[in-house]
Amino acid sequence: MLFENMPVITGEEVESGLRFSAEQVVRNLPEFTYKFQKAYSVDGFYEPIENNYWTTGFWTGEIWLAYEYMKEAGDAAAERLRAAGEIQIDSFLERIERKIEVDHHDMGFLYSPSCVAGYKLIGSKKGREAAIKAADQLITRYHPVGEFIQAWGPMDAPENYRLIIDCLLNLPLLYWASEETGDGKYREIAEKHIHTAVKNVIREDYSTWHTFFFNMETGAPDHGATCQGYRDGSAWARGQAWGIYGCALAYKYTGRKEYIENFKHVTQYFLEHLPKDMVPFWDLEFTDGDDQPRDSSSASIAACGMLEMIKSMEPEDAAVYKKYAMQLMKSVYDNYAVKDETESNGLVLHSTYSNHSPYNTCNHYGVDECNSWGDYFYMEALTRLHKDWALYW
Ligand code: GLY
Repeated sequence: MLFENMPVITGEEVESGLRFSAEQVVRNLPEFTYKFQKAYSVDGFYEPIENNYWTTGFWTGEIWLAYEYMKEAGDAAAERLRAAGEIQIDSFLERIERKIEVDHHDMGFLYSPSCVAGYKLIGSKKGREAAIKAADQLITRYHPVGEFIQAWGPMDAPENYRLIIDCLLNLPLLYWASEETGDGKYREIAEKHIHTAVKNVIREDYSTWHTFFFNMETGAPDHGATCQGYRDGSAWARGQAWGIYGCALAYKYTGRKEYIENFKHVTQYFLEHLPKDMVPFWDLEFTDGDDQPRDSSSASIAACGMLEMIKSMEPEDAAVYKKYAMQLMKSVYDNYAVKDETESNGLVLHSTYSNHSPYNTCNHYGVDECNSWGDYFYMEALTRLHKDWALYW
């Protein structure tokens, strides 16, 4: 086993990390009830934004995770959190009705941890309505010829005719919508996309492509390319982490055993390319000694994927991946998590959103900062270690 001697997070550390996180969310409510946290902090502090970016669902997801924790603890703050979550759901309903910045595939990131969560936890009817509308929006991006959901940009442009690995996390919204409405069309599209994505984004050595293009006329696979990774042939750390969690969810929803094998392979590649403290650099090309930023969010995302996958594994395998998840979270908790609210209004430092390199096409922002999803998945991973969590995805 890799990292044989790395310590695992203890029950007390899980509890303390969760308590601090829930309290930090409560401290943030005055500023972030009618507003949302920006995707990334600047010098450790998030600014408030309107509900108009692909990441705002993560902040609402943190509110719901904090609500769950505080409710269980019998803390009066639970009611404030619930009220804030409902206010945010109103905003998500308005956003999807007015189609504000929803012409992309991130409907799951937006609507699962906010509206599906609110529906599951408190029976929010508005949450249900908003999430079904978001699922309707998401399936408008499906290409029947290529059999995938297009990530970004206008649907009729060959230069946009691609999927991205991140989208695997957007598909549980479609399974949920089929379950809720009794209409199988959402599930059928999700299944086609999963199959096309997994078949093409995983390379022979089990590293992954961030994005993959198809031929617009024939739908045939064309080529992989990065956007946020260091270079085309490298493995963007968060893409690999989305792949780990994505394969676990693909198995959960399809029951196809091949996705467990895919999970094992992409996880192995991730683990083999981690530095000594197990928290990856922003691209798995880099390791100890490289002067490059980390992406702590990838560690928490990968841990969540492992903790989901072990539910369907034989005990021997489950023990192995549970240990890895607990080691990852120990390192994030010890070395990356915010412990003092004067240092940051976020939860986890040293995450990287979009790091421009000479070989990629992305903008440069949110580098070595808190990232909204890094905070959300940190809380999700701790919650998964704390109890048998009913997932929002
Ligand atoms: N889904 C975009 C990102 O992970 O940065």
